[in-house]
Amino acid sequence: MTETIAERPAVVTTEKVDQGVKTRRVAVIGCGHVGLTVAAGLGELGHSVVGVDVNEGLVTELCRGELRIHEPGLADLVRRGLDSGRLAFTTHYDYAVPEAEFIFLAVDTPQTLAGAADLRNIRAAINSLAPALNGSSPIIVNKSTSPIGTGETIEELLREALVERNVRARIVSNPEFLQQGRGVDDFFHPDRIVVGSRSAVDALEVASLYEGLHSEVIVTDLRTAEMIKYVANSFLATRISFINEIARLCESIGVDIDQVVEGVAQDPRIGSQFFRAGIGFGGSCLPKDVAALRYVGETFGVATPVLSAVQEVNRMQRTSAVRRLQSRLGSLEGRRIAVWGLTFKRDTEDTRESPAIDVVSLLSNAGAHIQAYDPAVAANPSLVPERFRPFLRATPLEAVQKADALAILTDWTEFKDVDLVTVRAAMINDLIFDGRNVLDQAEVEALGFAYIGVGRSATLPRRRRTDR
Ligand SMILES: NC(=O)c1ccc[n+]([C@@H]2O[C@H](COP(=O)([O-])OP(=O)(O)OC[C@H]3O[C@@H](n4cnc5c(N)ncnc54)[C@H](O)[C@@H]3O)[C@@H](O)[C@H]2O)c1
Repeated sequence: MTETIAERPAVVTTEKVDQGVKTRRVAVIGCGHVGLTVAAGLGELGHSVVGVDVNEGLVTELCRGELRIHEPGLADLVRRGLDSGRLAFTTHYDYAVPEAEFIFLAVDTPQTLAGAADLRNIRAAINSLAPALNGSSPIIVNKSTSPIGTGETIEELLREALVERNVRARIVSNPEFLQQGRGVDDFFHPDRIVVGSRSAVDALEVASLYEGLHSEVIVTDLRTAEMIKYVANSFLATRISFINEIARLCESIGVDIDQVVEGVAQDPRIGSQFFRAGIGFGGSCLPKDVAALRYVGETFGVATPVLSAVQEVNRMQRTSAVRRLQSRLGSLEGRRIAVWGLTFKRDTEDTRESPAIDVVSLLSNAGAHIQAYDPAVAANPSLVPERFRPFLRATPLEAVQKADALAILTDWTEFKDVDLVTVRAAMINDLIFDGRNVLDQAEVEALGFAYIGVGRSATLPRRRRTDR
């Protein structure tokens, strides 16, 4: 896979950043999707940044400029940071923390079985960094998405750890709003920078790190900043589930969702972002953040029926995909189904909570033989569960060989460029389920395919071709 930012001319380069940004010493704890982007971005802005991660293999690779994640433009940024000496990586807190004026927490906060956010990694990070503080009082900046009250918990943990020493606990919540697949662009063009703290001075100190970006800065208290992040993600998830519910209605009444969206989204109060029908939302953020906000509601005894419905509709999109394939193919037992796309969306290697993975599991459990292609997974099969690896194929065309149906489950741009005449010739049957509405229905049908999109008007079932 090539790393390119050519299609994104808006991505900032050092020339576009205001010179004169005061260089600060920053440690970033956790070098995953968020931590690495923030570390490399802050380095590009002129700060001196050390990324810390407990994963030794990851750190070794990062020191060589090798990335495990697929994020357009990030490899170039990391390479520039390493070459300039503004960016380094380590597993040793002792190396990064004592000198740091700002310590960012960007560790993962996964979902517990109960739906809460698991704060074990945050606690572990605080326990590791506290002994390395050498009398200075750096600002601890929490970027990990974590429940309302986490900033105060971090404060208490630090106070306990630092009780014997003359170090102040200074905490700022600085939620991250980047989207995977366009993280670099989002870092350099944030819609807003939210900084929440007990101390407005500390909050503004953190905001000053981003000075070159000219973004609006919103200063709040700790809890408000934490709430802003959960509300933002839960609202995006709500939009997706809402339009998916409407899409299922459209399927039944014979109305086209794309036209409905076009007619609705022109209203500037509504807009078109996160308003496309498909097989549902996934990834490491939206599902867990909706669950965590519901959990916050339960903790405070406040009912959250909208959030419950958002989750329910999201589950239904997966089962609806399988049901619709079944309604055309009959039993799925022994059917050969080609799948294009396994990551939770395009331009990322991330398969966490991917709707595509869920749909493949359902299809496989129903007895279908899966032949799957995904550009990121083809390059790194360990991204999917072991039982999926025999399903993998090296190209989109290998995946469709002798298939009864093709299911498009991720909206990778390259799927639009595959020659569908060749695809049809390779398949036994001519059914396409377009779970992301990436294809032009009229064009596909003109080629002789039977087409099912999400919320798109159904075509009449075609006779099964038995001549090939
Ligand atoms: N991925 C996104 O698009 C996104 C966007 C906004 C916010 N967030 C939030 O940011 C946080 C990080 O998400 P991510 O996607 O970058 O996670 P990730 O899983 O990609 O990376 C987390 C990294 O933290 C490291 N880590 C864990 N515990 C550690 C410790 N004690 N010390 C040092 N390193 C440790 C892990 O080894 C891993 O490399 C989460 O709270 C997430 O909800 C994510």
